[in-house]
Amino acid sequence: MRVIHSVTELRAALRGEPETAFVPTMGNLHAGHIALATQAKQAGRPVVASIFVNPLQFGAGEDFERYPRTLAADCEKLAAVGTDLVFAPGAAEMYPEPQTFQVVPPLAGELCGAQRPGHFQGVATVVLKLFNIVQPRYAVFGKKDYQQLHILKGLVRQFNLPIEIVDGETVRAEDGLALSSRNGYLSPAERAEAPRLYATLQQAAAKLMAGEPDFDAIEAEAGTELARHGWAVDYVSIRSQATLLPPATGETALVILAAARLGGTRLIDNLELALNRV
Ligand code: PAJ
Repeated sequence: MRVIHSVTELRAALRGEPETAFVPTMGNLHAGHIALATQAKQAGRPVVASIFVNPLQFGAGEDFERYPRTLAADCEKLAAVGTDLVFAPGAAEMYPEPQTFQVVPPLAGELCGAQRPGHFQGVATVVLKLFNIVQPRYAVFGKKDYQQLHILKGLVRQFNLPIEIVDGETVRAEDGLALSSRNGYLSPAERAEAPRLYATLQQAAAKLMAGEPDFDAIEAEAGTELARHGWAVDYVSIRSQATLLPPATGETALVILAAARLGGTRLIDNLELALNRV
């Protein structure tokens, strides 16, 4: 497995490889990331992973500085599942001059975007750059970051990028907590509490499946349940899988998304469900 830090070298290494499968990451890799690389490998194409902690997607006061950087360990894990090439640029390589931001749709200001202004602009900008640098045929993203996945699919569609976005299922710890690089920030007591986020989504889903019609009440109850256990809730929201907007009447393919903070750590999760309406 080659590890490359410069765009020029990467282009040279990929010349004549028009059909790569690409896994963009910010490093500090866990089993969720590695599952994406494994899935990419199954496409039977050379797999390129990127590791870049993108300053553009972190807001003031967020964890850009303390975000864990573990390149050597990350490369070992990627090599073990047959990744062919790792692109790990420095900030000066990605942003040699003040960067113009990619424009994003209004949805980028909702849900996580409401608490993290500019976040999805930063994500769309770096992913567009990475797509132009790597020019992959496939790119694999996790459903864990559901809104990110939705916004990036829109980017590919609207700008006619010749790339197929592949969804990766969320990988969880045994107690249900979605794996995340940020889980490492949790104290032992917070780590013990953290599975409640997914458990609360499961309870909300059970109410929806039982035919409870008042979505606002379900969202509010979930928020109250989390707050009661010490969480600062950013949002719990029932949305349409197709649009990520509030579901239209009769819509059945739904997703419940939540973001909440435990101490200084912000966790997100989501749960897809299909209502069986007649
Ligand atoms: P990062 O948080 O490192 O995540 C990289 C990829 O791993 C994303 O597609 C994310 O959805 C996926 N992922 C994270 N946790 C997962 C889990 N538990 N199960 C399955 N997949 C999981 O997302 C980013 O980086 C950045 O925003 C990026 C797209 C790289 C742009 O900077």
